[in-house]
Amino acid sequence: MARRKKFPPARILGIETSCDETAAAVVENGRLALSNVVASQAELHAKYGGVFPEVASRQHIKVIDTVVEEALAQAHLELGDVDAIAVTRGPGLPGSLLVGLNMAKGLALGSGLPLYGINHLEGHLYSAWVALEGDEAPAADASGPQFPLLALIVSGGHTELVLMRDHLQYERLGGTLDDAAGEAFDKVARLLGLGYPGGPAIQAAAEGGDPAAISLPRAWLEDSWDFSFSGLKTAVLHKVRELTDGHNLDVGETRLPDAALAADLAASFQAAVVDVLVGKTLRAAEEFGAAEIMVGGGVSANAALRAAFGQQAGGRPVHFPPMPLCTDNAAMIAAAGYFRHAILGQADSLDMDIEPGWGLA
Ligand code: KG4
Ligand code: ZN
Repeated sequence: MARRKKFPPARILGIETSCDETAAAVVENGRLALSNVVASQAELHAKYGGVFPEVASRQHIKVIDTVVEEALAQAHLELGDVDAIAVTRGPGLPGSLLVGLNMAKGLALGSGLPLYGINHLEGHLYSAWVALEGDEAPAADASGPQFPLLALIVSGGHTELVLMRDHLQYERLGGTLDDAAGEAFDKVARLLGLGYPGGPAIQAAAEGGDPAAISLPRAWLEDSWDFSFSGLKTAVLHKVRELTDGHNLDVGETRLPDAALAADLAASFQAAVVDVLVGKTLRAAEEFGAAEIMVGGGVSANAALRAAFGQQAGGRPVHFPPMPLCTDNAAMIAAAGYFRHAILGQADSLDMDIEPGWGLA
């Protein structure tokens, strides 16, 4: 099953602006990030409790030049030293995607370098191949994740279960029917008055809580590989109402009677999400005979999720991206671009447009 193919060496400049991170990176041979620059807008959006699209695109325009320059400078390279450019083409916010794509087109036009339009989800999948310079990649990871690979992408916008039988081959098994896993974290954090982004806030609050304190539902959706988190979110809302006698309930104004209750709710909510994500992923890995598992996207930074998967699950190695590559970044886009460049070698036309609703397969 384990295959070791040799691909030609190449350095790729990646650019990512699909949501609220302006990012650029240079990745060597799809595996080693020579630089990874991410300008986060989280603080700008925090007061809205979510990403405000116009604010996002305006901010991308302000910083994109500097971010790209910085990614090249940190890699000690000039544009002429890279072999291709990869840019997120979708899915994402149209105004945000346009900023990155136009920047990449301009660079490709000026330099004559080939340009690859990358699906953001494909980027998250390839995040598990990348090590950051200075970090020591575990020896077991020397050849990267092995196929067939069962992948779970859990982010603010997506929850996808994907089977990869080989590089660039994606079979979508299922996804969320309502809220994405990260979105559920963000919404529940708001209900608990914990702030944005909600994932890290829930994780921190949950540390002091009891995951078995409050019984919350798990939507297993038997007979399908889909997920649903809206019932769980509503159950948390009801619980909050019950605990606060129905006062309070303007978004962001929730005040639970005491912090211990918020911690128990956060821990119980997190446990319910983790149970379903891990349970269904392991079942799918078994059913489809996956050799290994990878978990990526913002929620893959979650400590409880990582602990539940462990390093082996059902006898299969489980790959997580390095922490800084769980959330949106351009190293993952460059890595995906590398495999497109090395295996297919067919660059995209400079006429390509953004694909805000692009699915993976
Ligand atoms: O991948 P990402 O940066 O953006 C999208 O492509 O959506 O994911 C962001 C999401 C947010 O919903 C955030 O709350 C969640 O990832 N997240 C976490 C953690 N860190 C980020 N969720 C749970 N636990 C975390 N530690
Ligand atoms: Zn993402």
